[in-house]
Order: sequence, then C-alpha cells, then structure tokens
Amino acid sequence: MNYASEAIRPDFESLNRLVVAQLHSDVGLVENIGQYIVEGGGKRLRPLLCLLCARALGYSGERHVELATVIEFLHTATLLHDDVVDVSALRRGRPTANSHFGNASTVLVGDFIYSRAFQLLVGLGNIELLRLIADTTNQIAEGEVEQLARAGDPATTEEQYLEVIRKKTAVLFAAACKGAAILAEADPERQEAMGQFGLNLGLAFQIIDDVLDYEGDPDVMGKNLGDDLAEGKSTLPLIRAMVAGSAEQAASVRAAILDKNVARLPEVLEIIHQTGALDYARTRAVHFRDAALAALSGLHGGAFGANLRAIAESSAGRKA
Ligand code: IPE
Ligand code: IPE
Ligand code: MG
Ligand code: MG
Repeated sequence: MNYASEAIRPDFESLNRLVVAQLHSDVGLVENIGQYIVEGGGKRLRPLLCLLCARALGYSGERHVELATVIEFLHTATLLHDDVVDVSALRRGRPTANSHFGNASTVLVGDFIYSRAFQLLVGLGNIELLRLIADTTNQIAEGEVEQLARAGDPATTEEQYLEVIRKKTAVLFAAACKGAAILAEADPERQEAMGQFGLNLGLAFQIIDDVLDYEGDPDVMGKNLGDDLAEGKSTLPLIRAMVAGSAEQAASVRAAILDKNVARLPEVLEIIHQTGALDYARTRAVHFRDAALAALSGLHGGAFGANLRAIAESSAGRKA
C-alpha cells in the first residue's frame, strides 16, 4: 500500500535514503539486522504523516526529513522488541528478526536504533521536540509493559484497552504530527490540533490492526493471524465478544484468553462472528477516524492536506 501522493514523493524518497544511511554501524550484526528490517519495507506511514503535516503547515526547510526518520526509527525499534515479546514469526512478509537472528541480537539492535533516533533528534537542537519525543518513547514503553501485564487477563475493559493502545501506538502518531507542527512553528492551537489528528488516527489504526489479527489476509498484511490470541491479548474483538455474547460464549472466550492458546482460534473466530464483534470494533475505528478528520478542519494545506485526509479516510477500512 502506497500512501504517498506525488507532491510528497521527493521528501519521501529523502526519508528512505536517510533511514538507510542512519542505520550505518561498524558492527556487522547491527547493519545486518538493521538492513534486514528496512529491506522488509513497511508502509512508512508515521514518517509520511510527519512529512505531510510539516508541508501542509507551510514548512519550507528540509529538517522534517530528520524528524520523520526519528519517528520511523522509534517505530522500528518498537517492532523489533514487540516481536520478541509477542513471539511473532512473520513481519513485513518475511521471518521476524527474532526468528532469523535470535532474541538477544534483536533486542540489542532495537536499543541501537532507539539510541540512534535520539542522536538524530539532538542534532535538530530543539528542546521542545526533544521533550515531546522523550515523553512519547517513555509512554510507548509503558504501554507495552501495561499490555504485557494484562496478557491472559480476560477482565480487561474496553476503556483499559483504549488506554493501552493510546500509549503503545497512538502517541507515536500524535508525535509525528505535532512534532511536524512544532518544527513548522505553527501556533499552539494548531500544534494541539495536529496532535489530536495523529492520536485519533493512531487509535483507529490500532483497532483495525487488532481486527486484522482475526480476519486479515497474511499475504497482504505480511503478518500472521492469531498472534494476539496466542499471547492472551484482550483486544477489542474479544472484549466485545464477551460483552455481546451469551454466558456460554463469553466463558469460551475467557477460557481462550486465560489459556493463551492459538489452537482455540477457530472456536473464538466463530464467536467473534456470531456476536458481530469485528463490526463493532470497526465502528469504533470509524469514530476515531472521524475525530481525526475533524481535527484537520480549518487546515487546507493543498495537496499535502488532501493526502492527510485521504490517509485518515482509508484508516478504518484498511486491509494492510
Ligand atoms: C505495526 O505498524 C504496529 C502497529 C502499531 C499496529 P505498521 O502496520 O505501520 O507496520 P509497518 O511499518 O507498515 O510494517
Ligand atoms: C503494536 O501492537 C505494538 C507496537 C506499538 C509496536 P501489535 O503487537 O498488535 O503490533 P503487531 O501486530 O505485532 O504489528
Ligand atoms: Mg506484536
Ligand atoms: Mg497486531
């Protein structure tokens, strides 16, 4: 899926070049794992949002490419660690780094990429951006730990689930957009609105990710189905199935979460479908998508603004 329109293409190409260049290390294994994950591709959605927001706000410099690279590195490092924690085997259509190189190397290279992101960020010399990104990185880590602490806990509520996905996913989308607004020296209200745009888009994006974990096409997504059930994650499809299902259906889903057993996937899928839980989750994603679009009101931004709106519009119906 290519989200970048013609107008942003030159910036997007600069971003891809900087991502590759900044992964350089004299240590072979760092380069190998770094290249491996970058060659796998990925949508580069978060850095694209950063580039688009900067241009939509009239930024005319080039340093947004560095900020976008910081954002993509934070995302990449999180994915490396996340796949170790989730014991995932497939990412970006190929074996995960952990299954290819092992857990220890993957965790350490994740640390390298995190710290490289901060080296780049310091180079931007903007304390406000440094604060935003430091706070964001800390919240992502907290969100991932909170999710781990809730693994195998079927009592997780929708509200608690939303809080976890806000931290682990949505705050990075928010930082990509708000950070661009800070760089573009937009007024504080606009900075706030861009942050709200990213935050709501990120919530919609993660809800759909959690839907796709049950009904996506692995060839299109480049990830396996059932990873969430295998980790006993109480994501929205399961939370909804327990609320909307009969006592018996709820008990089956509860048992599957406690059991962290992907062998129960067919049974869980049937209940999810019978209870309309995926449709419910999609309506929640639509709600956040609309909140994202509303945050853009008053922003024109020409072709860049149009690209941002198109990304938001596709977020609740995406397949990959
Ligand atoms: C995966 O993000 C992690 C989530 C927050 C769901 P993406 O779907 O953006 O992953 P890539 O970068 O395109 O591989
Ligand atoms: C996103 O959650 C985790 C991050 C914020 C890195 P998931 O665990 O659902 O992401 P995928 O499905 O592995 O990409
Ligand atoms: Mg995962
Ligand atoms: Mg997922």
